Amino acid sequence: MALVQLIYHSKNTLHADDRGQLANLREILEIARRKNGEAGVTGYLIFDKAYFLQILEGEEKDVEETYARIIGDRRHGDVTVVERRPAKMRVFSNWEMGSAIRSVDHEEVYLRHGISGPIDPKKLDGDKILALATDLRDLDAARSRAA
Ligand SMILES: Cc1cc2nc3c(=O)[nH]c(=O)nc-3n(C[C@H](O)[C@H](O)[C@H](O)COP(=O)(O)O)c2cc1C
Repeated sequence: MALVQLIYHSKNTLHADDRGQLANLREILEIARRKNGEAGVTGYLIFDKAYFLQILEGEEKDVEETYARIIGDRRHGDVTVVERRPAKMRVFSNWEMGSAIRSVDHEEVYLRHGISGPIDPKKLDGDKILALATDLRDLDAARSRAA
């Protein structure tokens, strides 16, 4: 069986206030974690108000089935695959769907990755998205160890 990694970006179409957006995101993450757990899919979701960046990894069939569900979701649009490639191993093996909602705490990481304002997905390739996601994951992991 072949492991693959699929990376995409999409435009958030939720025109809700901040609290409404958060509630929607919680709902998305809850269902993503449950379904990905069942399907053996892992990954990471980055959200910065205007855009989603998501990495999905797992067996090809499971990743493609998950992605096929995600692209039809009306909570986002302009879903664009940035990378779809074979993977030797999982990067987010402990996460059914890790996530980072952009906040001031993350700005140092975004700056380190050359992102000083809103995300412009045209400037990001798969490796850049992956590097940003792993740094955000590591920051949150370090924070929760320190807490
Ligand atoms: C940005 C975004 C990311 C999502 N990520 C996942 C995911 O990783 N796994 C998943 O099963 N559903 C994910 N969803 C939710 C799916 O689009 C879909 O609503 C959910 O899987 C339920 O599908 P169903 O109603 O066809 O059963 C995501 C939705 C959005 C908007």
